Amino acid sequence: MAVEQQEVQVSEAQIAVHWREEEYYYPPAKFIGQANASDPAIRERFREQNFPECFKEYADLLTWDKYWHTTLDTSNPPFWKWFVGGRLNACYNCVDRHLATDRNKPALIWVPEPEAAATEVITYQELYWRINEFAALLRDFCELKTGDRVTFHLPMVPDLPVSMLACARLGVIHSEVFGGFSGAACGERIVDSQSRILVTMDGYYRNGELIDHKSKADEALAVAKKQGFEIDKVLVWRRQPGQYASKSPMVEGRDFFVDEVITDYRRRVVEPVSMPAEAPLFLMYTSGTTGRPKGCQHSTGGYLSYVAGTSKYYQDIHPDDTYWCFADIGWITGHSYIVYGPLALGTTSVMYEGVPTYPDPGRPWRIAERLGATTFHTAPTTIRMLRKLGPDEPAKYGYHFKHMTTVGEPIEPEVWRWYHKVVGKGEAVIVDTWWQTENGGFLGSTLPAIDPMKPGSCGPGVVGIYPVIYDEKGEVVEAGSGRAGNICIRNPWPGIFQTIWGQPERFVDTYYKKYCRNPESKDWHDWPYFANDGAVLAADGYFRIVGRVDDVVNVAGHRLGTKELESAAITVEEVAEAAAVPVVDELRGRVVEMYVALKPGYVASKEIEAKVAKGIETQIGKIARPKNVWIVADMPKTRSGKIMRRVIAGISNFTDPGDITTLANPEIVASIKEQVQTEKRARGDVPRELTAQEAEEIKAFGKNE
Ligand code: PRX
Repeated sequence: MAVEQQEVQVSEAQIAVHWREEEYYYPPAKFIGQANASDPAIRERFREQNFPECFKEYADLLTWDKYWHTTLDTSNPPFWKWFVGGRLNACYNCVDRHLATDRNKPALIWVPEPEAAATEVITYQELYWRINEFAALLRDFCELKTGDRVTFHLPMVPDLPVSMLACARLGVIHSEVFGGFSGAACGERIVDSQSRILVTMDGYYRNGELIDHKSKADEALAVAKKQGFEIDKVLVWRRQPGQYASKSPMVEGRDFFVDEVITDYRRRVVEPVSMPAEAPLFLMYTSGTTGRPKGCQHSTGGYLSYVAGTSKYYQDIHPDDTYWCFADIGWITGHSYIVYGPLALGTTSVMYEGVPTYPDPGRPWRIAERLGATTFHTAPTTIRMLRKLGPDEPAKYGYHFKHMTTVGEPIEPEVWRWYHKVVGKGEAVIVDTWWQTENGGFLGSTLPAIDPMKPGSCGPGVVGIYPVIYDEKGEVVEAGSGRAGNICIRNPWPGIFQTIWGQPERFVDTYYKKYCRNPESKDWHDWPYFANDGAVLAADGYFRIVGRVDDVVNVAGHRLGTKELESAAITVEEVAEAAAVPVVDELRGRVVEMYVALKPGYVASKEIEAKVAKGIETQIGKIARPKNVWIVADMPKTRSGKIMRRVIAGISNFTDPGDITTLANPEIVASIKEQVQTEKRARGDVPRELTAQEAEEIKAFGKNE
């Protein structure tokens, strides 16, 4: 036993992280002159002494049907309740209330991927009608009512925000599954949320191809059916109304084209349902350590207040901006910072259908120039790709951003500097926003007109968020110590998710158990939120996020759970055991490599490797496709039979696999190393030398197993 315990050795908190302190960059005067928050007094307003009432400032950005009586109710920790007694409608706040003054302002500008296709401008008035008609259809044709769940599997088309806001209008809980996820992944989420209706699309453009998307709905329904769950109706939006882009047949009585059914609901107006602040607005699924995805449940009043407030102060959104967040609405970033936040503030939000580099890496800059975009918001993986494929492209176009965001994964200072100098032309302020699906909105960022920027660091906690770094024992890791630890948020905030749909114990266990001081306490001070991220706090109060401390691999800003990947690999008949590990990648941050051992009687082959890759693709989606599948004779294991992921992660990354003397089969390590590294060398696939921080991350991988 003692031996096994030793193996859970490197804790994040013990890692001393060495990197050069980066120099500060200062916000340009022109930006400061127009910023929503340029007076440092904002920090005073949101300091701890003023908590929780400080968040009234965010809630007051919204229109309430009924004002709340209790700002924060902590009677059932950690199930916090915000703005209790208040009532509002999220759709009304994002659309109706802007009509009086701004009905003909563009709410959404949609850029289809084919460059010859016309851009679609949807005014607030037009958006209002589309939402009302679809809401009428959902209510009267699908018989949906307040509190029901609906799953969407929609790509980046305007029908997605229309569908979301139509649900919000009715108080129906939407659950959008990223369009790139497989039918099977969608099916799992349908079952988990018990959605009777699936909203999908026939096809969409990606990388120049019209992808058949409806076929994924059939797969999703088959997966759900296997689990004993049947859906009532499938609503199919058509990419080009009247034309069908899919080969999958429409099932009589089950599948309906929205553009046909909606003709019965033209000009119908649906009154927005006044919802309690605490009513769930949507679910957003994300990966965790175990296989089952977590449906993060977000509230109406708290969530909307939080995204409106952070959009105003951190995205610096003004009503006359042309704000472009280049994320997918299928992820939380798109929900909060393409749809709900920007529309609540009545600005113009841009959506682009396709891939950044189609048909060439100048595309984003042409879009920005043509639309006069003032703001740009994307992930490091996109920035890296654009930098690699078109380092000089931005200079060719006459756009000017005032504000840019990076989100989703740590950004290398080198890449940050290119973003600042080349994409931002030295004129734009940058915020590096750290947060998670669970959080609703930003947790860590500089205030763009007030704080200097430091490449690679997100900055301090955002206003009203009081972060702390704890070591494994719960001791505070002091600023400037150079040690990494577990970043936690000491207080509740309005955007925090309410629970994991159907798994309240897992909610408590994953996020609160580790550092809870007293499970009986009703005082929020005893319930720090454990973010599952490692971080370092510099002497200046800036946090640098060093990555996940659970077994989640962040591929191009998307969270993939090792267990999910491994369960998908194991569905391949020949596979006995599987282990997923992260490999450092120049463009995508991390990519996944799979190690599999076969059942007796099977011989390794390229076909089996391909089956494993395909299995993962079908069950999770293309984004999860492993870079390599290694069929090995056996896995390195502890004496209790646990696969040592850090050892194979070390092999894949050409780093030191750590102590192997305690393994049950130490001899296997040399033979796996020989097999994998020889092949990688032959393919020219040797990663660059890892930074000390990356090497530590790899060494700590799998420690939660
Ligand atoms: O590890 C952190 C990383 O992404 C994780 C959250 O992923 P997800 O829930 O998909 O949400 C992504 C967009 C909000 C975090 O636990 N992460 C997110 N933002 C940053 C980051 N790592 C470093 N810097 C960031 N700015």
